[in-house]
Amino acid sequence: MAGLRRGEAPWHEMNKLLIRLIVVLYKVDRRKVFLLGATITTLGLILQITLVPFPLFTWLHSPLVRVSSTSNSLTTSLQLSLGQVRYWPLYQTASPVPFNTSAQALNEVQASPALSNSSVETLKKVHSVEGNATVSKRKRRKGRRRRRRKREDAEDELEVETPPPPPTPPTPLQRHVWSLSPNEALVYAKRELQNAPVVTNDSDLHAPIFKNVSMFKRSYELMELILKVYIYPDGERPIFHEPQLSGIYASEGWFMKLMEANRQFVTRDPEKAHLFYLPYSARQLQQAVYVEGSHNLAPLSHFLRDYVNSLAAKYPFWNRTHGADHFLVACHDWGPYILKSHKELAKNTIKALCNADLSEGVFEAGKDISLPETTIKRPRSPHRNIGGGKRVSQRPILAFFAGNLHGRVRPVLLRHWHNKEQGMHIYGPLPQNVASKMTYIEHMKSSKFCICPMGYEVNSPRIVEAVYYECIPVIIADNFIPPFFDELDWSAFSIILPEKDIPRLKEILVGIPLRRYLNMLANLKMLQRHFLWNLRPMKYDLFHMILHSIWLSRLTQVQIPD
Ligand SMILES: *[C@@H]1O[C@H](CO)[C@@H](O)[C@H](O)[C@H]1NC(C)=O
Ligand SMILES: *[C@@H]1O[C@H](CO)[C@@H](O)[C@H](O)[C@H]1NC(C)=O
Ligand SMILES: *[C@@H]1O[C@H](CO)[C@@H](O)[C@H](O)[C@H]1NC(C)=O
Ligand SMILES: *[C@@H]1O[C@H](CO)[C@@H](O)[C@H](O)[C@H]1NC(C)=O
Ligand SMILES: *[C@@H]1O[C@H](CO)[C@@H](O)[C@H](O)[C@H]1NC(C)=O
Ligand SMILES: *[C@@H]1O[C@H](CO)[C@@H](O)[C@H](O)[C@H]1NC(C)=O
Repeated sequence: MAGLRRGEAPWHEMNKLLIRLIVVLYKVDRRKVFLLGATITTLGLILQITLVPFPLFTWLHSPLVRVSSTSNSLTTSLQLSLGQVRYWPLYQTASPVPFNTSAQALNEVQASPALSNSSVETLKKVHSVEGNATVSKRKRRKGRRRRRRKREDAEDELEVETPPPPPTPPTPLQRHVWSLSPNEALVYAKRELQNAPVVTNDSDLHAPIFKNVSMFKRSYELMELILKVYIYPDGERPIFHEPQLSGIYASEGWFMKLMEANRQFVTRDPEKAHLFYLPYSARQLQQAVYVEGSHNLAPLSHFLRDYVNSLAAKYPFWNRTHGADHFLVACHDWGPYILKSHKELAKNTIKALCNADLSEGVFEAGKDISLPETTIKRPRSPHRNIGGGKRVSQRPILAFFAGNLHGRVRPVLLRHWHNKEQGMHIYGPLPQNVASKMTYIEHMKSSKFCICPMGYEVNSPRIVEAVYYECIPVIIADNFIPPFFDELDWSAFSIILPEKDIPRLKEILVGIPLRRYLNMLANLKMLQRHFLWNLRPMKYDLFHMILHSIWLSRLTQVQIPD
């Protein structure tokens, strides 16, 4: 009992103590809580007042010093809007540069190095601020969505972008050239080209593959300095402005894609342009307009005629030169035939054609451009499998060909060389039992020579395949002008044979001295970069080679006044 009572007493004591404690605590707490609540509310009010109208009045003045010593989150948001305050207006003045490429505007912006430097910084800062602020999550999500979308419609929606030209302060020469009218600039370029300084060895260019590396280097420099291209916005998709980036006609698509994304050479002001691009795809035209089995190209031809006539009626530029400063890039086999309904288009316009056939009366050597036919299987990785040709001692095959037997040359080739002699691996379509041991591409890398006979048309994607896979191309197609024939010395890295020499094929190939062969192979490897499509175009690559050829053709039209 005693124990119980003894036990009860402290129990009661404790209960009372607890209750008192709670009451006391409650009393204290209530006051404290009230105080705390009041403090928080006041702080919240202050915070809201300083944060909400913050950008508004900072854009007008900058009374930011007051708040600068508060919490971390506050300072970051402070820096953020400081960034906006300081850089946003500059960013706006910097942005017109890519869009107004007129000489004067360029001069004005680039003449002041301080401005161009700060505008570069601005761009960087604005980007990093955006990246680190709350925008980043949204951006990431958007990026993911874009990536998914990209994967979905994969090939043709490939996004390519060219970075803007680096804003270096202009030299006096640049200022001079930019002050000239387009015609004056062309005359200037022509004069300069005739007095090109002689380059014997250039660190960046492999002289042996060029006809005249001094001329090439100079005209390329002049292109970079001067050339502006106007792209007609007219024309509906898919025939216009919608490039196809895969397949054997990919060249026209890649050029269109990269040209339209280009900031260095494209001008939005046609008065400043030296060249006018007709942005259509011959392949898309065939798919959209040709009636299967009709054997009638007239509708395609009329379509282009009407397009050009509509441009000539709408703008003054076509009639000014009757189309001589206009150009097109078409890789589809029918490219030249569907120009025939419009006389000026067929005759005057600068044409970059895969089907560079002299005998058709459309392609004109020295004026038109032989466009390389590139087979692109995966537009996301256009450089797949390139390179890796075997050493000569490990190339057991002297000559290799596999393909369908259309056109006039291939049946003759097979009649003479199919299953005839050792080292001559000349097939129709690559037989399954052969392909299972060694793929087509492996064949090319293991052969000394790759035969590139014409098909229905003179051109063949094998020529560029041979360049990619490091096999000396043997071109057999009378009347064919090989790609970039005005600039490149094809004898330095290829064999060009007349069709009548097919019976002597082996004799001719065996007769090539090893020394010369090794030289050609080394040159071929140096040629590769000029035949590559890059997602971001690089100096001297295929995009620029094509554009340069067109520029060179434009220069040849120019008459130097006495
Ligand atoms: C581009 O610049 C030229 C010359 O400075 C000017 O006349 C023209 O209005 C400008 N165009 C645009 C769209 O700003
Ligand atoms: C602009 O940038 C160049 C190179 O980046 C530098 O040499 C030059 O001093 C800079 N000019 C100014 C005013 O910052
Ligand atoms: C943005 O974040 C990156 C890392 O995520 C950091 O390197 C960079 O300095 C930050 N930039 C700014 C302006 O805070
Ligand atoms: C290349 O062109 C330059 C400039 O026109 C000329 O001086 C030179 O003789 C040419 N070289 C050859 C090998 O034709
Ligand atoms: C090529 O130029 C470099 C310097 O630019 C020089 O050292 C070399 O001797 C030159 N080679 C030939 C073959 O002229
Ligand atoms: C260009 O010439 C064609 C035919 O001569 C004519 O129909 C068209 O109206 C001319 N365009 C302009 C802009 O004057």
